[in-house]
Amino acid sequence: MSQTQSAPAGQTAIADAIARRRTFAIISHPDAGKTTLTERILRAGGAIQMAGSVRAKGERRRTRSDWMGIERDRGISVVTSVMTFEYGGCVFNLLDTPGHEDFSEDTYRTLTAVDSAVMVIDAAKGIEDRTRKLFEICRMRDIPIVTFINKMDREAQDPFALLDEISSSLALDTSPATWPVGRAATFVGTYDLYNKQLHVTSELTQSDPRMIQLAEDLELAEAGLPEFDRQAFDEGHLTPVFFGSAMKEIGVTDLLDALVAFGPAPRDQATETRTVKADEPGMTALVFKIQANMDPNHRDRIAFARVCSGRLTRGMRLHHTRTGKNFALHTPQFFFARDRQLAEEAFAGDVVGIPNHGTLRIGDTLTEGEELRFTGVPYFAPEILRRVRLDDAMKAKKLRQALTELAEEGVVQLFRPQDGAQPIVGVVGTLQLDVLQARLKGEYGVGIGFDSTPFSLARWVTGDKVKLEAFAAANRSSMADDLDGDPVYLASSAFMMRRTEEMNPDLAFHDIKQIG
Ligand code: G4P
Repeated sequence: MSQTQSAPAGQTAIADAIARRRTFAIISHPDAGKTTLTERILRAGGAIQMAGSVRAKGERRRTRSDWMGIERDRGISVVTSVMTFEYGGCVFNLLDTPGHEDFSEDTYRTLTAVDSAVMVIDAAKGIEDRTRKLFEICRMRDIPIVTFINKMDREAQDPFALLDEISSSLALDTSPATWPVGRAATFVGTYDLYNKQLHVTSELTQSDPRMIQLAEDLELAEAGLPEFDRQAFDEGHLTPVFFGSAMKEIGVTDLLDALVAFGPAPRDQATETRTVKADEPGMTALVFKIQANMDPNHRDRIAFARVCSGRLTRGMRLHHTRTGKNFALHTPQFFFARDRQLAEEAFAGDVVGIPNHGTLRIGDTLTEGEELRFTGVPYFAPEILRRVRLDDAMKAKKLRQALTELAEEGVVQLFRPQDGAQPIVGVVGTLQLDVLQARLKGEYGVGIGFDSTPFSLARWVTGDKVKLEAFAAANRSSMADDLDGDPVYLASSAFMMRRTEEMNPDLAFHDIKQIG
């Protein structure tokens, strides 16, 4: 595995390096086979020595992410990691996401840093809850989706039924890229519809029942299903579908070959003022995640930044557009699962970790001097709201500071009630509360508990300044400010929320806030 390329001479070389980047994530419902597929992909990419350590269950995984007690105790992964490997002349960055649903906000933000997503579906179960949720996030951002229907070596639904389910339940056109040869125990490989090639693990004669079934299926498929349409794929309206078995390593290289052939290269990205093209010479980067305590011996804080354009080099001076400050990039790092190495250079599409002491926040833009702010990193309205109860009243100031820092990291969302009451934290899953409590104690020496609140919904409010102020004054006990000072309305129920919306038609209530 090589993560750094030799220094390219000139802009063409930079453009070429960028065109060869493939940055993607895998989305799936638990148990569909994401971990197994990740391993097989890494193995195909020659990163075999690491393949074992991405295993989602058992001891090995605990070894990988033992940086935090809570992960060790629960056997869950809270860390996002990046796995880089080369395949077919391309440099792949596979962004791994936390496995547990309670950390889905992290997953959502990580999806803002990819150019495509591989959606893994269990061939017997079809589309499941979490696949659907993650798919919706991809759709919101028009992220192209490649579908991998896994576990074809077991009893599975009929391929036509699976394709039908994807198109009808996700409103996404499906174009079969490969077709399964044989089913369940007799599944031996795939037929590549785009290149008209058979990829099977054992020789088959034309009279083999599997070949007869294949011929019949192909006739139907070619007549009734859409062909691959590059534009529709790029825009997120059509998904090429691959059949396979991660476990048996069938169909994995079909998938990678396709990502090489048409897996999108780094995309252009919107800022408040203009669109940044991935291959423009100036370096720009977007911070999409902050991770603290990756190394328990050094209480460091790593900002994960996606390079959005140009070439990043170690030692370069960066402009931090939110604060207007400049700093030298001394120790950018590449992460591979839990290992890290200094990044001498990186190109658009790559993800680097930047150690910092709290200067960098989620959604921040880094440039070589240009005033730019990338848009589109989302905050989602939390579904659980709790008031923080301090064990020791003397530590109120410390708690305020600690909560701000942890909220900047994205551990929880922080809401400061406008009536001066104790801060409220918002989370998507209750495990986030455990993490908050453990970290406040472990890192800041602040013991806390949680009290319930009368609130179950939070919405960001925007609108005319005068009307907004009048609304806030009239609803003071339900108003809070988020980390950025933006006003948030807290409602006790969906019913109350609807009523408030109806009574205030001039204001807009948002369940997603785009940073930037
Ligand atoms: P996840 O990360 O999406 O949660 O899924 P993971 O890869 O851990 O796979 C879930 C289970 O499905 C595992 O079995 C795994 O071996 C199995 N699996 C994955 N891909 C395939 C496939 O292509 N075919 C078949 N038949 N099974 C597959 P497990 O018994 O839960 O775990 P383990 O004991 O194998 O580790």
